[in-house]
Amino acid sequence: MAEPLVDGFGRVARKLRLSVTDRCNFRCDFCMPLHPVWMPHSEILTYEEMTRVVRILADMNVTKLRLSGGEPLMRRDIEKGLKLFRSVEKLESISMTTNGYFLAEKAKALKESGLNSVTVSLHSLKQERFEEIVGRKDVFGKVLDGIKTAKAVGLHPVKINCVITRGCNEDEIIDFVELGRQAGLSIRFIEYMPFDGRHPWDSSRLVPGSEIIAKIEEKYRLLKLPREPGSTSVSYEFADGSAGSVSVITSMTQPFCGDCDRIRLTADGKIVPCLFSRDEYDVKKLLRGGASDEEIASFIRDSFRKKFAGVETLLKKKKVEPLVRPMHTIGG
Ligand code: 5AD
Ligand code: SF4
Repeated sequence: MAEPLVDGFGRVARKLRLSVTDRCNFRCDFCMPLHPVWMPHSEILTYEEMTRVVRILADMNVTKLRLSGGEPLMRRDIEKGLKLFRSVEKLESISMTTNGYFLAEKAKALKESGLNSVTVSLHSLKQERFEEIVGRKDVFGKVLDGIKTAKAVGLHPVKINCVITRGCNEDEIIDFVELGRQAGLSIRFIEYMPFDGRHPWDSSRLVPGSEIIAKIEEKYRLLKLPREPGSTSVSYEFADGSAGSVSVITSMTQPFCGDCDRIRLTADGKIVPCLFSRDEYDVKKLLRGGASDEEIASFIRDSFRKKFAGVETLLKKKKVEPLVRPMHTIGG
């Protein structure tokens, strides 16, 4: 094995978030600009190019892969991509973050192609509100079907991502908790992060994770689990032994950048060491310019060494500026 991938603060990368496409069929309020500009197809890495980076990283002990987008299931032949990624022996697991729209039809093939687990974004349990948030009509039923099918075909775990925003869906926190308990799902409440979507980012819409947990504790006693090193979330089980669990992703109010273990690759071949920094390093020009694996590994090492300290640095400034990078190009 090659040396592990370490940044300037001594943090070690173990997980790769790979955005396989910037395209998405949804237009979520807090993610998609009204008029998204898509990357040209010729700029998007082939599955073979992505697999090469996955292999080089796996050799540096980055062995957990999460596919994201845009919407990863919008990428043609995603099953082919999965099989190629799976061929990387050192890879431990492959998960995916999806909007769930194509999941009912694809879950079985995804599982057979090597996908282990899935996280589905579901921001409301009310059809009309959900469709207003995601900017699409007649999609709610398909997403719910997708979640059921994912469980049925044995993708495990199936998690739900729910971005809570003030004045929109904060009244549904308990409904989501009930869903988690009844269906045995892990519900992950995400704080609204500073990416411009349909509107400019607005800090008054941020609902702190502590408020979410306090709300749940009015009804259920929760048992806090030890946080896994590198995890973005704090998770809780129910003291009454019920199925399901809840987590809060407190990226804004209580970030865990100190032991961050992630590195990102965009669909157009940019290494992004940190979601909250504009820094990116173009590995595609090496992939397409005849570079050796060693040269690529050394480029990634140099890029990762410059990884941004973290959100705390941003929050020290009086006003949090929204990040220029559109969320759909990096997939959370
Ligand atoms: N703040 C918080 N979460 C966001 N997501 C997209 N945009 C934002 C934002 N501005 C969510 C997606 C997905 C996850 C990766 O991030 O809905 O569930
Ligand atoms: Fe698409 Fe996900 Fe962004 Fe929604 S949050 S627009 S589903 S990429």
